[in-house]
Amino acid sequence: MEQGHLPVLAEEVIAMLAPAPGSLQIDATVGGGGHTERILEATSPDGRLLGLDADGAAIARTRTRLARFGDRLVLRQVNFREIARTAPEAGFAAVDGLLFDLGLSSHQLADAGRGFGFRTGGPLDMRFDPSRGVPAAELLQALDARELATLFRRFGEEPAAARIARAIVEERRRTPVATAEGLAALVERVTPRRPGPRRRHPATRVFQALRIAVNGELEALGEALPAAMDLLRPGGRLVVLSYHSLEDRIVKRFMAAERRGCVCPPEVPVCVCGRAPRLRLLGKPPIVPGPVELAANPRARSVRLRAAERLVA
Ligand SMILES: C[S@@+](CC[C@H](N)C(=O)[O-])C[C@H]1O[C@@H](n2cnc3c(N)ncnc32)[C@H](O)[C@@H]1O
Repeated sequence: MEQGHLPVLAEEVIAMLAPAPGSLQIDATVGGGGHTERILEATSPDGRLLGLDADGAAIARTRTRLARFGDRLVLRQVNFREIARTAPEAGFAAVDGLLFDLGLSSHQLADAGRGFGFRTGGPLDMRFDPSRGVPAAELLQALDARELATLFRRFGEEPAAARIARAIVEERRRTPVATAEGLAALVERVTPRRPGPRRRHPATRVFQALRIAVNGELEALGEALPAAMDLLRPGGRLVVLSYHSLEDRIVKRFMAAERRGCVCPPEVPVCVCGRAPRLRLLGKPPIVPGPVELAANPRARSVRLRAAERLVA
């Protein structure tokens, strides 16, 4: 299998989704189509899958690569925050499984023109859908030092947020910070080196923060999870792979609330809201990769899998 399609926690995803032959599935983040392919194989001969991605290039590549599945695979270039509208329109109003594999793909990371990777000299764009919204370079030009620091702190949990923000504002007086390479070098210059054998690049948190802001990632996830629940049949499975603590927290809290059902404040002795649990958690969350997968696939390093089953309520 091509490196770009190496799906993270593939066995675990299939075990949790338990996609049966003939079932209806949604992959809300098609990317390189790695999970899509596994799910289509597992639902053979007549299962169908709706695949979404905001990135038109990902959709086009997957359409070609997985053409052998014919009309069992339906693809739409759309942000998954629109899943409540898109899925029923495509004939997937009630499904047996729904997967979110969040963040960015290896293709996007490797594409110098997108600005996701530290070492790419191309424009600092970072949009999953380059036809919409504002590229990261424009954000870096438009925000003042306080706003930049807040962004790096909030979406990157970056301890040196204020110092990095000041350095960007200073730098852009001379020349705009317009490439991924330029930004990575700037962050490296102004942040102290942290010791340790497997140090992450010092710009990791800043890149994460910018990407989250540019794509409205946390809002999209917050909107898509309740919509996804409404699309699941009783017994249907929801599986989410997240790659940083901010998105994992949203998933964890969402599943915990749906599992509890009742939303009465703790001081109310007897439930008055009458809300029944809508989810049952699967496995022992979070599920993380073992050493073999970690050695083979560096993208799996920070992944956390959470899975749940829709109850009748
Ligand atoms: C980690 S990759 C998916 C990899 C895929 N599971 C595979 O096996 O190849 C995440 C993909 O989700 C897409 N994505 C991220 N947020 C999105 C959103 N809000 N709406 C639609 N697609 C999104 C990205 O464009 C990217 O292609």
